[in-house]
Amino acid sequence: MHAVGIVAAAGSGLRLGADRPKALVPLAGRPLVCWAVDALRAGGVDELVVTIPTAARAAFREVLGPDVRLVHGGLTRTASVRAALGTVGEDADAVLVHDAARPLTPPDAVARVLAALADGAPAVVPVLPVVDTTVVVDDDGAILDTVPRAPLRRVQTPQGFARAVLADAYARLPEGEELTDDAAVVRAAGVPVTTVAGDERAAKITVAHDLALAELQVRR
Ligand code: CTP
Ligand code: MG
Repeated sequence: MHAVGIVAAAGSGLRLGADRPKALVPLAGRPLVCWAVDALRAGGVDELVVTIPTAARAAFREVLGPDVRLVHGGLTRTASVRAALGTVGEDADAVLVHDAARPLTPPDAVARVLAALADGAPAVVPVLPVVDTTVVVDDDGAILDTVPRAPLRRVQTPQGFARAVLADAYARLPEGEELTDDAAVVRAAGVPVTTVAGDERAAKITVAHDLALAELQVRR
């Protein structure tokens, strides 16, 4: 199985508020995007495509090896992944789409996604249970209801797909439409999505506190 990894790294990282695009922010001295690329490679991905902010091409080229393909991203994550997918050849069997913002994803978590694809799943996402009591509130913050949490899951990346399934789903998605993840894109095309166990270490870095936690994790 030839697996291509797409690392979405074209965001600016507004909520982190660093002096550079989030994917270039260092964790233990290495840019987040390098950690994410390494995680996919260590988990068994054969070929890497990274979506980047157009203005930062030189900076990304400096930190990523020549064997990583750089693709200019779009205004939304959906547009960025669409652009990267356009460069994936038909020789690929599987495509894994991963966030640069999840640098500490263990290789095992990547390997579980690849294994499910090798077993024939068309689409697979890593998930975690919801452990906190979860409620619905009104506009004033008053609790309306408690949601039964047993069937709820938090969705992570990398999300894996049979290449043809993902390409077909993106081709059907109207240009300019934005969905929060790639599983939503294939679900919109009617494809069933299965789940495998995610990993808390694959948490997404969104705000400064998340980066501080990741630093502690690396130093342990
Ligand atoms: N991403 C992308 N193209 C975009 C927007 C986001 O490739 N137009 C990527 C980001 O680089 C990130 C991943 O999608 O690795 C998840 O997005 P998010 O965590 O929201 O990152 P940012 O959009 O960079 O952060 P923010 O929303 O705080 O600006
Ligand atoms: Mg964003």
